[in-house]
Amino acid sequence: MAAPPPPAGRKRILCVGLVCLDIISVVEAYPAEDTDTRCVSQRWQRGGNASNSCTVLALLGAPCAFMGSLAPGHAADFVLADLRRYAVELCHLVLHPSCSFPTSVVIASASRGTRTILHANRNLPDVTARDFEQVDLSQYKWIHWEGRNASEQVKMIQRVEEHNRAQPPAQRIRISVEVEKPREELYQLFGHGDVVFVSKDVARHLGYGSAAEAVRGLRGRLRPGATLVCAWAEAGADAVGPDGQPVHSDAFPPAAVVDTLGAGDTFNAAVIFALSEGQSLQDAVTLGCRVAGRKCGVQGYDGIV
Ligand code: ADP
Ligand code: FRU
Repeated sequence: MAAPPPPAGRKRILCVGLVCLDIISVVEAYPAEDTDTRCVSQRWQRGGNASNSCTVLALLGAPCAFMGSLAPGHAADFVLADLRRYAVELCHLVLHPSCSFPTSVVIASASRGTRTILHANRNLPDVTARDFEQVDLSQYKWIHWEGRNASEQVKMIQRVEEHNRAQPPAQRIRISVEVEKPREELYQLFGHGDVVFVSKDVARHLGYGSAAEAVRGLRGRLRPGATLVCAWAEAGADAVGPDGQPVHSDAFPPAAVVDTLGAGDTFNAAVIFALSEGQSLQDAVTLGCRVAGRKCGVQGYDGIV
């Protein structure tokens, strides 16, 4: 299905990555092994980094689209209905009729604000560069990749770079990537894109003890002119742009931290939103922390903007 043209002057933001089902059990305290615990509450929620970031972009008022793989069934029906509820455009879903839909079981501790994720993805393939050839690039001003099948994703990015070379600077699509999991294959993504998000997990794995250290130490892996951003939970976030000036924002802790699931995805979305609207890197990182802080204070995403 072709997407309708964007409203005049308002191109969309496209996020490429995972959509899954999160089955969330909120418990007072994280349970000991081999015990029988009554939950405070239990719910289904749409999950997946790129899909969560779309939720937040939509809440921030940015027209956005999701691209990812889907397998049929009740879980898929649930997440599709939820994506529609947030007006996320769905013209780039790739259906795999004989695969199973990825699901996470999440234990959310209400007293400590932690989220423990058990993710299962049996056989759903990620979208490929060939799938991405169908995307009408003229619809988008920004495309974000959640790092997954990185070698294929590099080919998708190269298609956008080639498209950009034929455009005047103001029409070029901005590219961002997220390196969230400490997996060697994903590290090639550091060298691509205008904005690279690196998680504290990856930064720690690579030997850094803070976001400031990580952006200083990893900057050399980026292509010249790119920006590196690193969020670090309660410590806020740091970034460094093309001018080499480090920026930092403290976190904005809510009155009570009740749900940190998707805090990083929320942060990324708010940073992308601010940069795509022409805000400075400092303002973008501050907005990221502000919106992610509000997210930590509520279950799910409603009411964070
Ligand atoms: P992830 O969800 O990927 O683990 P982080 O834990 O680094 O991401 O959090 C992303 C952002 O969310 C942080 O930069 C911070 O602004 C906010 N955040 C996360 N945890 C908290 C917290 N406990 N209190 C306040 N803000 C938080
Ligand atoms: C949160 C999240 C969840 C999902 C998991 C997959 O960042 O996207 O919604 O279950 O990570 O790793």
